[in-house]
Amino acid sequence: MNAERVSQSSYWLETAPAGAPAPPPDADLSVDVAVVGGGIAGLSTAWELARRGREVAVLEAGRLAAGVTGHTTAKLTALHTLVYDHLRRTRGPGGARLYARSQSAAIRYAEDMVNELDIDCDWEEATAFTYAENPRHVEKLRAEAKAAHEAGLPAEFVTETELPFPVAGAVRVTGQAQFHPRKYLLALADDLRRHGGSVYEDTRVVGLTEGEPCTLATEAGVSVRAREVVIATHYPVFDRALLFTRLSPRRELVVAGVVDEERAPRDMYITPEQSTRSVRTAPLGDGQRLLIVTGEHFTPGTADVEERFARLSSWAEARFPGVALTHRWATQDNDSTDSVPLVGPFRPGSRHTYVATGFGGWGLSGGIMAGQLLSDLIAGRTAEWSGLYDPRRVASVVREGGAFLKHQAKVARHFVGDRVPPLTGLGPDDIARGDGAVVRMGTGQYAVHRDEAGQLHAVSASCTHLGCAVAFNRAEKAWECPCHGSRFAPDGQVLQGPAVRPLKKRDL
Ligand SMILES: Cc1cc2nc3c(=O)[nH]c(=O)nc-3n(C[C@H](O)[C@H](O)[C@H](O)COP(=O)(O)OP(=O)(O)OC[C@H]3O[C@@H](n4cnc5c(N)ncnc54)[C@H](O)[C@@H]3O)c2cc1C
Ligand code: FES
Repeated sequence: MNAERVSQSSYWLETAPAGAPAPPPDADLSVDVAVVGGGIAGLSTAWELARRGREVAVLEAGRLAAGVTGHTTAKLTALHTLVYDHLRRTRGPGGARLYARSQSAAIRYAEDMVNELDIDCDWEEATAFTYAENPRHVEKLRAEAKAAHEAGLPAEFVTETELPFPVAGAVRVTGQAQFHPRKYLLALADDLRRHGGSVYEDTRVVGLTEGEPCTLATEAGVSVRAREVVIATHYPVFDRALLFTRLSPRRELVVAGVVDEERAPRDMYITPEQSTRSVRTAPLGDGQRLLIVTGEHFTPGTADVEERFARLSSWAEARFPGVALTHRWATQDNDSTDSVPLVGPFRPGSRHTYVATGFGGWGLSGGIMAGQLLSDLIAGRTAEWSGLYDPRRVASVVREGGAFLKHQAKVARHFVGDRVPPLTGLGPDDIARGDGAVVRMGTGQYAVHRDEAGQLHAVSASCTHLGCAVAFNRAEKAWECPCHGSRFAPDGQVLQGPAVRPLKKRDL
């Protein structure tokens, strides 16, 4: 793939532009419910509440559906790679059944809404597969097919797929779907406004005071008072419950390109092999479809991203001969330590604050499910599966102590790394155009970027969330924090939380 000729932005954003941003509030506000974050979790919740007659405001730091949701693969399936055999063991057969039922109900609900509101979002029914090429993984797939079937999904083990290469085996689940996530969500946002809800874009929330009412502070200095607050910022930007000890960020790459319709797979595929490969296609018209391939996951700030894009592109070109790659982009999701999203009251004792996070790569069905679960909770009702997703759960977290400790050990390494000067540091003169590096200057560490014109830009290397050292992602021109995944532009502006404050400017 020639990276120069390939669009670096998401196909979903390119093909569903949203017009001028909804302006931020110009004075203090008071609403019934404030939803912070306009991705699939936040918008689904806000829209559901507005339909139920609540006065809702969505506060979005950037544009609607342009965060992780705008950069996803956009499969809507309850088959989440290999989750059911795991859930059966950790949460019991009942837990696995609730997971399958809640995710399947979310997909059916979205389908009903697409029909009811007549949303043009390229909705297609599709079968979902988790496959393996290596025969050593077949037993795992058989166990997953059995567990998913016992959980109530139409799942079976198969050895044939329509992929243009052989597989050793696969779990197949019929009756799933794929869609254009941004077209779907922009239509929900329009419907939300029709029901009296408000949307504020370019509105970054930087403070939360819990109370009756709760008060949110925006970066621009406006206060928003709300009886109920939903934190749907992907990684929670406020963390009274130390949720960050139970979430680890995982960045993934996406490449996409045009294939002839008759050679394009119509179903949806994922394998945990080779650092994950996820495949689907989307309709383009004129006898063509867009092949979308995702994979190469890594902790933000710790990989040679250009090399990984090259690996993913080569895989797509080798496995789907004739594909002409047109796009590449990247995004990240958070894994919870017990593999179940955290959706519900923000922390023990919370009465008016809620959170939706930790979707582990499956937050589209998960975000829709969260919308219903949280709007039920706010209305004083409890969904059948509220306990499964309750962020205050401890038993399963204790059982998953290994994953928890591994995550903490990794974070601790970066905390220590931040405070110990590098033995062989680079100087600003060593930084090539387009690149960046952390440089030790006196007693501090500076994150220094040299732009394509040769100009140097320096900011503090200390992440404004909890102080880990950031690292430069040359392929995407961003500073990334390996601890909890905050991302910053070369000039220090926040691209992605949990950080809410920019990296401080430094003079070289
Ligand atoms: C490569 C990849 C492929 C994926 N493919 C699939 C798939 O096929 N199917 C599936 O089900 N899931 C998939 N996922 C997962 C899914 O995309 C995510 O779980 C989901 O989009 C998360 O939605 P969200 O609403 O929580 O986050 P987001 O969409 O990121 O929304 C959060 C919003 O909050 C805003 N925000 C952040 N901080 C603030 C603040 N301080 N103030 C105000 N607003 C703020 C952000 O700007 C953002 O718009 C994939 C994930 C990855 C990484
Ligand atoms: S994201 Fe938490 S320390 Fe950087």
